[in-house]
Amino acid sequence: MGESVIQRIHAREVLDSRGRHTVEVEVHTSNSAWGRAIVPSGASTGRHEAVELRDPDSRAGVRQAVANVLHLLAPALLGQQVTAQRDLDRRMLALDGTPNKSRLGANAILGVSLACAHAAAASRGQPLWQYLDRGSACLPLPMVNMISGGLHAGGNLDVQDFLLLPIGARSYSEALEMTILVYRALGRLLRALGYESALVGDEGGYGPKLPSNEMALDCLVQAMRQAGLQPGRDAAIALDVAASHLYSSQGYHLRELGEHPMGSEQWLEHLADWIRTYPILSIEDALAEDDWAGWRELTSRFGKQLQLVGDDLFVTHPQRLQRGIDEGVANAVLVKVNQIGTLTEALDVVEQARQAGYRCVVSARSGETEDPTLADLAVATGAGQIKIGSVARSERLAKYNQLLRIEETLPRFAPWGTN
Ligand code: PGA
Ligand code: ZN
Repeated sequence: MGESVIQRIHAREVLDSRGRHTVEVEVHTSNSAWGRAIVPSGASTGRHEAVELRDPDSRAGVRQAVANVLHLLAPALLGQQVTAQRDLDRRMLALDGTPNKSRLGANAILGVSLACAHAAAASRGQPLWQYLDRGSACLPLPMVNMISGGLHAGGNLDVQDFLLLPIGARSYSEALEMTILVYRALGRLLRALGYESALVGDEGGYGPKLPSNEMALDCLVQAMRQAGLQPGRDAAIALDVAASHLYSSQGYHLRELGEHPMGSEQWLEHLADWIRTYPILSIEDALAEDDWAGWRELTSRFGKQLQLVGDDLFVTHPQRLQRGIDEGVANAVLVKVNQIGTLTEALDVVEQARQAGYRCVVSARSGETEDPTLADLAVATGAGQIKIGSVARSERLAKYNQLLRIEETLPRFAPWGTN
């Protein structure tokens, strides 16, 4: 069978989990295979991310990005081998010509990039994870949003995500079972405390108006116990502070401090208290995206004992990650395909991180869809960890459920600490 070539590329606007427009792309090949992908969208975005093209009118749709796919990207790719992913992505980068994909839009480019990968996998008759596997495929450990704050839940809490790390799990499905027990226990606990637990944030975590970050941490520990898990042994806590969104030139603004922000030093002391008191094993964006000095200090103090993840800090960008590696900043990278804008570049960042001994957490965005691609990417790269949001809301479950399907053929799993 000869390799199949791209015969037709179609794009349209569809809606994401916040009811905002986003780009969907379909790629059809000469051997009647096809693939489809929908691009996600963030809310607490990093300043250094690739540019998501949004129409400048009040509708804020993605008609221009769709038009760019149809009229600029498609003509450049028709007739090309669909399996030549690196070459296809390179062609699109050249056509865009900007360092941050601002001309054609990272959303336009990524839609095509991912849809090509799906079409290529289909043309070979393989599931996407298998098509992309270079020998290290395994099921990831999920870090799961339990309580949402920050920009994802109306600013109820300073910290954006309080997550469960089911570190005692020996398989993906066991991790998921542990997680739903804690999620339900937490719901009962919040209800008993008088909070309306049914209200969830953008990523499906509970969004209660708790009086403090510490109370969220206490509730999560208690929910672990009520689910029959021992904190620190069976399950632990991960935080995504999303600190860029708490930061101004005056420092870090926490609700409890009113008009008086903390400097990096003082904020690190505050974090150190939490680390001493609670079973926290991973912190993402503990400091702001350009507070490199603070990040160096954070890493030298806690880098041995904690996973320190850069999201807004690294924005899945090879140059920012390299600076982190060179300066001893963080020890893990959050991988969001739409922060960088092509599949090839995202896969390269995973490889770069791995070679430097940095861990990888493949991550969804707060604006998601029914597209399960991320689950396949997490498996294919063998990244070891995935962050998709909570175990409620179908745009999250699209990925969790896809992982359950994949587990039937590939049970290999990366327990905590082995990736
Ligand atoms: P975002 O949030 O998708 O709104 O950027 C996710 C995160 O900060 O990890
Ligand atoms: Zn984040």
